[in-house]
Amino acid sequence: MEITKVGVESIPTIQSLANTTWAVAYREILSEAQMSYMLDLIYSAASLQKQIEELGHRFIVASVNNVASGFASYSVKNKKELGIFKLQKIYVDPALQGSGIGKALLDFVISEIRPLGAKTLELNVNRHNKALGFYQKLGFVIIGEKDIPIGNGYFMNDFIMKVNV
Ligand SMILES: CC(C)(COP(=O)(O)OP(=O)(O)OC[C@H]1O[C@@H](n2cnc3c(N)ncnc32)[C@H](O)[C@@H]1OP(=O)(O)O)[C@@H](O)C(=O)NCCC(=O)NCCS
Repeated sequence: MEITKVGVESIPTIQSLANTTWAVAYREILSEAQMSYMLDLIYSAASLQKQIEELGHRFIVASVNNVASGFASYSVKNKKELGIFKLQKIYVDPALQGSGIGKALLDFVISEIRPLGAKTLELNVNRHNKALGFYQKLGFVIIGEKDIPIGNGYFMNDFIMKVNV
């Protein structure tokens, strides 16, 4: 497996992986309409370009035998709390989940943010998402919960989790 930092040239790869993973990860959690609304909101080319070029989200892609099989993105949480980083996204091709790619992506993120002064890594996860177990296994603890309005009457019903890095 190879993990590489990527930029806007990889937007189609990220979109393709997002479509495949979201369909499975959220099929029992979100309505089809909300899933499609959120995919457009977060993964349209314009939105991804803004995340990369304006919001400072760094994207990484994991490839197995040169096939993109998962991705993650991260950033500082905000400009006032420079020791806190946020894992924005982490998704692994459903066909390859459980084979160590998610952990490798997370380890890579941590190895990148430590030299930047990170003390903790936070994330939001849907309260019904099975990924909760993955995060707990890797040391994250729940520090709060939040229902975040995202437009069109939809909400993200999240736990907030963190781990010391
Ligand atoms: C969550 C996700 C990124 C984890 O990646 P993965 O490649 O499947 O996980 P790994 O194989 O690296 O697992 C690492 C460890 O966590 C454990 N683990 C993985 N998923 C788990 C789960 N749902 N519950 C409990 N433990 C889990 C594994 O057994 C493994 O333990 P081990 O080291 O003792 O063998 C991946 O399953 C995924 O993309 N899920 C769907 C999308 C999603 O919900 N993303 C998060 C959005 S917030």
